[in-house]
Amino acid sequence: MPVTIQAGHALDRFDATLQAQGPVVLPALLLCDFGHLAREVERLEAAGAAALHLDIMDGRFVPQLTYGPVVVEAVRRAARVPIEVHLMIQEPERTVLDYVRLGAEIVTVHVEALADPRAALEAIAAQGARAHLALNPGTPVATIEPYLDACDGVLVMSVEPGYGGQPFNPVAIGKLAELAALRRVRGDRFRLCVDGGISTDTITRVAEVGAELIVAGSAVIRAADYGRAIAELEGLARRAI
Ligand code: DX5
Ligand code: ZN
Repeated sequence: MPVTIQAGHALDRFDATLQAQGPVVLPALLLCDFGHLAREVERLEAAGAAALHLDIMDGRFVPQLTYGPVVVEAVRRAARVPIEVHLMIQEPERTVLDYVRLGAEIVTVHVEALADPRAALEAIAAQGARAHLALNPGTPVATIEPYLDACDGVLVMSVEPGYGGQPFNPVAIGKLAELAALRRVRGDRFRLCVDGGISTDTITRVAEVGAELIVAGSAVIRAADYGRAIAELEGLARRAI
């Protein structure tokens, strides 16, 4: 049975926060204590996380294998805030709607993994979730340009996908700026998102060029105090705009 509890309200609150306060940090659960998953979700929500970022890896599109629908469903039951599933998997079109049915409000698919990006984005949106398109550090913005009108968000990878805790790749700065400029010219409505190597040293630079949904894994999960880490990161991002 789908568990899309209050999905609309959760996204409304998320949008209102973005609108009123500026960029938000989405903690990535990848490095959290999976032995106490519900407790980690509660801690992150209590720490002020506006949404949660779940890294789905298949051991093929990226070397690491993480988790799939069973864990997403467990997080969905524990969480009140919106959930983003970041699908680092081959042939995501085969399973993408499973994640929508489980209640993920944001579904992010990689352009490198898709034969028909537009069809995948439209299928996600048709089921009522936000459709985000991700691109790897080596993939030029031109590759996703034809699909930007079908995107609710674009996720610029600032590390090679696969692992948490890698150093930030500054190639993302130019791509975020390029996407922000394209959005202005074209009048598209997609949100600018970034993922990988975000810390107090790098978040100002991505916020300055327009990143609004900023994923942070190790910078939050390896901190003793999640609340302080999120507040510090969001403070830096909001002061940068
Ligand atoms: C990398 C993942 C990221 C990762 C971020 O493949 O997509 O979401 O968890 O971790 P940090 O912030 O430590 O780079
Ligand atoms: Zn991710």
